[in-house]
Amino acid sequence: DVMREILGLKDLETNLKRILPIDEVIVVAGDSDLSPWVKKEMGRACVTCMKDRLPSHSIVAVTGGTTLAAVAEMMTADLKQSDVLFVPARGGLGENVENQANTICAKMAEKAAGNYRLLHVPDYLSNEAYQSLIGEPSVKEVLQLIQSADIVIHGIGDAITMAKRRKTPEEEMEKIISGNAVAEAFGYYFNQAGDVVHKVQTIGIQLDDLRHVRHVIAVAGGASKAKAIKAYMKQAPRSVLITDEGAAKALVRES
Ligand code: G3H
Repeated sequence: DVMREILGLKDLETNLKRILPIDEVIVVAGDSDLSPWVKKEMGRACVTCMKDRLPSHSIVAVTGGTTLAAVAEMMTADLKQSDVLFVPARGGLGENVENQANTICAKMAEKAAGNYRLLHVPDYLSNEAYQSLIGEPSVKEVLQLIQSADIVIHGIGDAITMAKRRKTPEEEMEKIISGNAVAEAFGYYFNQAGDVVHKVQTIGIQLDDLRHVRHVIAVAGGASKAKAIKAYMKQAPRSVLITDEGAAKALVRES
């Protein structure tokens, strides 16, 4: 803690709490845009944060992305509370397998010595497929688990970076661009004011469901994500933010 004070991380945390409508923030040293190990440090901080809040017999819902993959990598099995069930927060969003919520969820459960359930939903669902899928008993069962999550852990991405990485279809891409999206989280795209301008059609947690979740932990760092973090947080009060010095300094600079 003395070290964190010397490094100025505590001051950054205090400043961020003034700028963003968040309950709690943890800033780790470095900038994950420049050094890949910083993502693992955010991952470590996130694991500690999750463990501190974990009730017994809990359900933890997780999203995809490289940051959440780093959280999974840092997960350890020393949970005081037994009986943790990991579930993916939402179905397919067009990511490569290593960045998919299903993959990350299974890996986290393995490392935490917990259990997991998966959502087998194709990416880019048609309306018809969506309607019939949500009626499937096996899907319904997992959806109910997801909706009763005690903790949701998710990443935040830069909108255009995410849309490109997910090979988003042309019409959706146009919607994201013309809507001036700057942030993305669990398949929702947000403009600078924090309004949803596009949402990927998949099942799982919906934005409104988050209001009923006890603990929401957002993990996102790198100076390149400052704008995205600021926009997303406008409509996500009460969250815990785990970020890095790179993003924190950019946020303070631009405020
Ligand atoms: O769901 C993905 C996140 O919004 C951002 O992904 O952690 O790879 O930057 P990332």
